Amino acid sequence: MLYINFSQSPTALAPLAGLTDLPFRRICKKFGADITFSEMISVNALIRDSKKTFRMLKRADNEDRYIIQLAGSDIAGIIKAVEILNNMDGILGIDLNCGCPVPKVVAQDAGSSLLRDLPHLAKIVEAMKKHSNKRYVSVKTRIGFSEKTPEIIAKTIEEAGADFISVHGRTRSGGYKAEVDYDAIRRAKESVKIPVFANGDITTYEKALEIKQFTKCEGVMIGRGAVGNPWIFYQLKHNEKSVDKSFIKSVVLEHLELMREFYQDETGAVLFRKHLHAYSKSMPEAAAFRSRVNAISNVDKMQEEIENFFSM
Ligand SMILES: Cc1cc2nc3c(=O)[nH]c(=O)nc-3n(C[C@H](O)[C@H](O)[C@H](O)COP(=O)(O)O)c2cc1C
Repeated sequence: MLYINFSQSPTALAPLAGLTDLPFRRICKKFGADITFSEMISVNALIRDSKKTFRMLKRADNEDRYIIQLAGSDIAGIIKAVEILNNMDGILGIDLNCGCPVPKVVAQDAGSSLLRDLPHLAKIVEAMKKHSNKRYVSVKTRIGFSEKTPEIIAKTIEEAGADFISVHGRTRSGGYKAEVDYDAIRRAKESVKIPVFANGDITTYEKALEIKQFTKCEGVMIGRGAVGNPWIFYQLKHNEKSVDKSFIKSVVLEHLELMREFYQDETGAVLFRKHLHAYSKSMPEAAAFRSRVNAISNVDKMQEEIENFFSM
């Protein structure tokens, strides 16, 4: 049975709604990401049988350690969602979102709101563990809702039976911009025996090593640092400080082709704009390129624009 080798410094691609879809996860896997997470899947949408949600669950053929992340709060609904996933192959684990700060999610008592009711969070994890037939049940959490309580949160999650935790070193109040508190991640890690992934603002090879050493976490989880920069996983796997990016054009074109295949309509090009912004960042004439691609919804046209720009 497949498993995660926590003694080998695994790297994980963080779930990023709107970015880490199947095509991008496929690219990150190709560069050596060990574990991939789906974008957060709403429990309500999943049990309503939403077509769009089922497309979001799909796994790329190279995703051998693929984890589905659920966002929800109602235990009966979560059990139903877990049972749906039990009938699907190729999923190594199910993760619970305890980090999403978005008001709509928080208003439904889901995401980071679960950090305000740890006994309820524990009951959800217990139910997931009891009903899931997958190898892992995990939790992705922040270090608190308003106050920082990383030790209590980590301990609660461990005692409820989770197999590992990913800790984003900000509170809900810290949004995505507050300074990441790596010491809080270190304290979360110290409080539990189960493996922990450190997450938050890890954007370079050097930083990943530094954070791993400082927090003593088993692995690092990278989100925004991989967008426009998926080869960060190659660097981490092969201990390389820099990579030769002369192949960037071929990666961008391959990524676009995967978008074309997966979405089969203009959505592919529209969603690809964000990736192009990231791939072209800090290149000459990037601002003009960005405004041109923002007006393109046709994949062929976008391909042409990429051919021209990345050859410069
Ligand atoms: C656009 C965006 C979408 C996100 N979507 C999710 C999500 O679906 N599930 C989740 O647990 N976290 C989500 N996050 C949080 C990230 O997984 C991660 O914890 C956070 O961005 C910090 O890590 P990073 O600096 O490596 O990106 C999202 C963050 C961003 C910026």
